[in-house]
Amino acid sequence: MSPQGGLFLRARKVIGVHDSTGSGWQDFPVSIPPGEVDRLMYASLCCVQGGVFEEMHRIREHALRRNVADGVHVALLYQSGWFLEWLEGPAQGVRAVMARVARDPRHRSIKLLHASRGLRRLTEPWSMAMAQAHERPSEFAGRVVALRELHRAGEDMDPATVWRRLSTPMTHPGAAEQAQSDRFQRVMVCSAQGADSFELVRWLGQLHDAEVVHRRFAGSRADARDVATDYVDLACDPVVRRVIAMARNGLQIGLTQAFLPDYSHVILLLAGDPVRDTQLVQRLVAACARLSHRPVVIGLAPIDADHAPLQRLAHAGGLVYLDCELAGSIDAPAWWAAAEPLLDLILGLHTPEPLPPA
Ligand SMILES: Cc1cc2nc3c(=O)[nH]c(=O)nc-3n(C[C@H](O)[C@H](O)[C@H](O)COP(=O)(O)O)c2cc1C
Repeated sequence: MSPQGGLFLRARKVIGVHDSTGSGWQDFPVSIPPGEVDRLMYASLCCVQGGVFEEMHRIREHALRRNVADGVHVALLYQSGWFLEWLEGPAQGVRAVMARVARDPRHRSIKLLHASRGLRRLTEPWSMAMAQAHERPSEFAGRVVALRELHRAGEDMDPATVWRRLSTPMTHPGAAEQAQSDRFQRVMVCSAQGADSFELVRWLGQLHDAEVVHRRFAGSRADARDVATDYVDLACDPVVRRVIAMARNGLQIGLTQAFLPDYSHVILLLAGDPVRDTQLVQRLVAACARLSHRPVVIGLAPIDADHAPLQRLAHAGGLVYLDCELAGSIDAPAWWAAAEPLLDLILGLHTPEPLPPA
């Protein structure tokens, strides 16, 4: 867990966190009315024959028009033959959406899993996700019923927890721990160019002989391409560490932003190209703009890269930015050797080595 040969790692300093939400970059309109809203979640058995994600795109087309008029933000998941929908908005709007949805023959057996009032987490009118899972619909149904019983007994978890509980198959190594934030560390990896973040997660999966789980996401913009995201869960005593590769476009999706407060770190695989690297930091700053808890940023870059402007951008957006320089080969082992000690640090697993004199 210490920096390896050929690698020069320097985590310089932690920059203070501010509440500023400024960012020069905005790829989609954002206006979230403040205050509490109704939050509701249900699961339903999917009756769609054929391409479910294509059908979800059709639902999005309609829902976007209607939900925006109702002030309702929605996230829809398809997994193991089931839909899970998370709605947030004014009571009247949420009721109107549910009245429409209840009549829809594309699903049946609707089970209410959560109802509360609270702050919005979904920043976009629409997000959707499809997760690859080996679980059978009957196994998923068992988890739906268990959550409904908890809800009926008045043991409501927050909507993000319900979503996580259902979207992680129980056969998965991290499933039991993920509801306990002190036993589960989430780390996002995003690259400034290419698919380096996916390469890192694939390599970690191979190294640890752990399954890489694939998911697809889409947000409100019909003209934007779907976004892929892969994750791997690593046993990292005493925690499970989930490392999630996120495509750059994924940062603007409401679901990603809804879960960003749960991430301890975002690792940026920088290219050493000021334009690309700046764009990536701007995207992250915009994605974190409304969060009260923000992940720590680890900027990994070739040794000749200039971290200073990136650090300033991150700082202005209220983000802690740790700069790491890579000397020698720039590949998955080198990225991980640089990032892992910093991830361990927060868990108290690693004692930093003294910095070489400047
Ligand atoms: C799983 C699922 C989720 C849906 N979510 C929404 C939604 O959030 N908003 C919406 O307007 N329609 C949603 N729909 C579509 C509605 O059920 C319905 O078909 C659509 O609103 C048309 O209703 P209308 O004929 O009354 O306009 C969803 C459908 C399914 C199967």
